[in-house]
Amino acid sequence: MAMRAAPTSTSLERLRRDLDRIGPQPEASHGIPPECYADDTLLPLERAALLRRGWVALGLAGRWREPGDYAAFEIGGVPLIVVRSRAGELKAFANSCRHRGSELLAGSGNCRKIRCPFHWWTYDLDGRLRVYPRMETARDFDPADYGLVEFALACRDGLAFVSFDDDPPPIDAWLGDFGELHAPWRLADLVVTRLREFDVDCNWKTFIEVFNEYYHLPAVHPDSINWLYPEPDPPEKASGEFVTQFGPTEGAAALLAGAQEEALPVGEGLEGRYRLGTRYTWIFPNLTFAASQDSLWMYQAMPLAANRSRIVQTVAFPSASVALDDFEQRAEHYYRRIDAALDEDLPFLIRQQRGLASPFARPGRFGALEPCVGKFAFWYAQRMLAELAIGG
Ligand code: FES
Ligand SMILES: [Fe+2]
Repeated sequence: MAMRAAPTSTSLERLRRDLDRIGPQPEASHGIPPECYADDTLLPLERAALLRRGWVALGLAGRWREPGDYAAFEIGGVPLIVVRSRAGELKAFANSCRHRGSELLAGSGNCRKIRCPFHWWTYDLDGRLRVYPRMETARDFDPADYGLVEFALACRDGLAFVSFDDDPPPIDAWLGDFGELHAPWRLADLVVTRLREFDVDCNWKTFIEVFNEYYHLPAVHPDSINWLYPEPDPPEKASGEFVTQFGPTEGAAALLAGAQEEALPVGEGLEGRYRLGTRYTWIFPNLTFAASQDSLWMYQAMPLAANRSRIVQTVAFPSASVALDDFEQRAEHYYRRIDAALDEDLPFLIRQQRGLASPFARPGRFGALEPCVGKFAFWYAQRMLAELAIGG
């Protein structure tokens, strides 16, 4: 597909006008302009506005359990390494060698040190340059000046967050009521048992949106999971850069009808209605999860292009469940249900992407069963408008 030219002043004017029409109340608001889902030339603006400002959630911090556990990501166009140090602290570094810039690590795994594959400059897990072969001719060369560029990293409520800001906003203010609302699910106690990475042919926002609305269930999941979900509660009125909505369920939401007897125990912190139901949460901009009474499944979505996204899927369970003898076998039923729903969603997302790419697509309106999508639209519009204002 040919890249479109950079946005013209007329197209930016129209974008501003359409973003301005997105209000805080979904029932009175328009949706995000279709070009924000389909136009590659708007990606730099999105990256700058949403992914390189404030805090971005990286996933469950327990994913990096042992010293040396690492993962390489790209967030907002920044190649990044997240690694647990010898002292047990989670750290985030630019994945760029301080010699001549090579990417250092790829994928995920465990390492004792970070060695550049190009000329073997080698850094310890705190990012300090330790080995630098044949540098004896370099004048005034102090290796202490050539440690890896480090970013702010914060862990709260079992999750890890990174910020590229020089002076990031206080994380507790950013998260607001998140900790209190999610305390019963004890996110910090969850053990990651499945981590998968894959690419999908749709915009990163549509992937997360469909996860946060009940509207599509009868049409997209008629025979698999629709039966599980009666009407949800309205979204919580909470402070913080996220939206969350609890809904009771008819059975274990993470199991298909035929596997309900495989349900794992209810989490120890859960009481009352929370013992049979799911909290769907979207931490803005690009991480979402469903916290059920017995399990958690999570998606992080990163744009590769307007119509292609990299997805990290995480599934986690309370540590007491993971310790059960038959855990592995019962967990398989959970993975099957999570994959089945995803397989049903994806063709619809691809179809939605084709429609959104039309020059005649226009911003739509929100129904009663998608308030969280509407709340994200407002957050998105505010951030994009602020970035457009900075850019003139
Ligand atoms: S670019 Fe890393 S050692 Fe040369
Ligand atoms: Fe779905």
